[in-house]
Amino acid sequence: MLEAIRTKRAVRQFTDEPIPRDVLEKILRAGLRAQSSKNTQPWHLIVVEDRQVLLQLSKLGDFLGYLAGASACVVLAAPDDSPWTYFDLGQCASYLQLSALELGVGSCLGAIYQPAEAKKLLGVPADMSLQALVSLGYPSADHQVARLGGRKPISEAVHWQRW
Ligand SMILES: Cc1cc2nc3c(=O)[nH]c(=O)nc-3n(C[C@H](O)[C@H](O)[C@H](O)COP(=O)(O)O)c2cc1C
Repeated sequence: MLEAIRTKRAVRQFTDEPIPRDVLEKILRAGLRAQSSKNTQPWHLIVVEDRQVLLQLSKLGDFLGYLAGASACVVLAAPDDSPWTYFDLGQCASYLQLSALELGVGSCLGAIYQPAEAKKLLGVPADMSLQALVSLGYPSADHQVARLGGRKPISEAVHWQRW
């Protein structure tokens, strides 16, 4: 687990290989195992595999272009946009991504900048909140991780006992 956490990077270039349904379901089940405030499990996960829909979704933000080449994506929807709900959704997304890694599937989180359009496209009720998605696909042989990587050292981000 530590190795997965240490090495996981966002993958944005994928092969055309579809993700088998049983693999996708393993990833989804892992996402649904995430903890949530009072175990409310606020998430609804919309799985998109249709190339045309992926393409349309990829146009709903400045930084979603890579989604057009993904084999699938999981759009995370919730009944409200409270901080706790999004804390829960973030954990669900992490579980989706870590389990994908375990199964050889690359992933990248994406922000949905035009939620109204995304809801229309996916038939999501207007009163639901839609802000993020996880793209999925087998990493292409020449896929490259973004140069901006690495993480803050412990000395910069951790405060022992007090700030
Ligand atoms: C809330 C959130 C939103 C993100 N939105 C996007 C996005 O819209 N497009 C994108 O290419 N990457 C997006 N990312 C991925 C981050 O850019 C990436 O995880 C970060 O740069 C670290 O890169 P690494 O995971 O490869 O180390 C998002 C990540 C998070 C957590």
